[in-house]
Amino acid sequence: MLKSIKGIFTNKDIVSLSQFDQQSVMKLFKEVMKIKKTSPKKLFKNLQGKIATLVFFEPSTRTFSSHASAFKRLGGQTIDHQNPMTTSSAVKGESIEDMTHMLEQYSDIIVMRHPTKGTLEKVAEAATIPVINAGDGVGEHPTQALLDMYTIFEKFKRLKGLKGLMAGDMLNGRTVHSLIKGLSMFPGNTIYLLSPKELRLSREEYKEYSGRGIRLVEIFSTKDIPSDCHFWYWTRVQKERFKDQKVYEKLKLSFILTKKLISEKAAKKTIFMHPLPRVGEIEVSVDDDPRSLYLTTQPKNGMYVRMALFKLILKS
Ligand code: NCD
Repeated sequence: MLKSIKGIFTNKDIVSLSQFDQQSVMKLFKEVMKIKKTSPKKLFKNLQGKIATLVFFEPSTRTFSSHASAFKRLGGQTIDHQNPMTTSSAVKGESIEDMTHMLEQYSDIIVMRHPTKGTLEKVAEAATIPVINAGDGVGEHPTQALLDMYTIFEKFKRLKGLKGLMAGDMLNGRTVHSLIKGLSMFPGNTIYLLSPKELRLSREEYKEYSGRGIRLVEIFSTKDIPSDCHFWYWTRVQKERFKDQKVYEKLKLSFILTKKLISEKAAKKTIFMHPLPRVGEIEVSVDDDPRSLYLTTQPKNGMYVRMALFKLILKS
């Protein structure tokens, strides 16, 4: 069973946005704001002598580097397994539980990404040290959602009463799953979900999320995007989740964020976000728009949010 945060992060696992409530999100954001104002020299004292093991069974640029940078900026060190299926004893058939028991002998926290939904819950169950889910297949990606929420919060000074658009792969995108859960903790939010029919949320997820109090409106054409969104959250169609690559090819560029679409449907206040990597679904010419945050503010905030998490979880 995953433990709720309830305002206390010490020694807790971060596996799902379901563990959070408003108070915990705000406590984390306060810590982020504090860290942003603190000198690097002072920050470096926080995790001296601590070690994080980063184990990524799936490729990663941002999430891996961001966790490593966050831990090191706080004075800690990392053990890096970026290719465990070729370099660790997982190749020899070692179970994920045994691997976890070994890693906990050497380190103070485990950050893991795995292709199978639910694995991180198993790892957290087995581990005696805290575990952070860095993405479990089509499941969740809680730290990404927290950095996305922080980015929205920083811009609008609130997380309630917002109107947003999420576009791309609602079915397989773990970042959208966590972000919907995250925003559903705050009242009065409406999210438009734009995807091809084949990639809309599973009916179970649609029901589960709607039951959390958020208003979800599924749309299948850019014509139906409302013109007063606070944020647009574009995503990549998740190639690696398709059994039939022909279907992926057909669907991959169903919706592209272009300058033209912005001029037709975005508001002055609308911010443009994407967890990245992008593979054609945002036109490069959009990068220069001051409302585009995916190459700058979002990844930078990601590092600060992870610093705050490490600090709160490991503070003795
Ligand atoms: C995302 C992921 O891995 O889920 N990337 C990330 O961590 N920022 C999104 C994606 O791969 O499309």
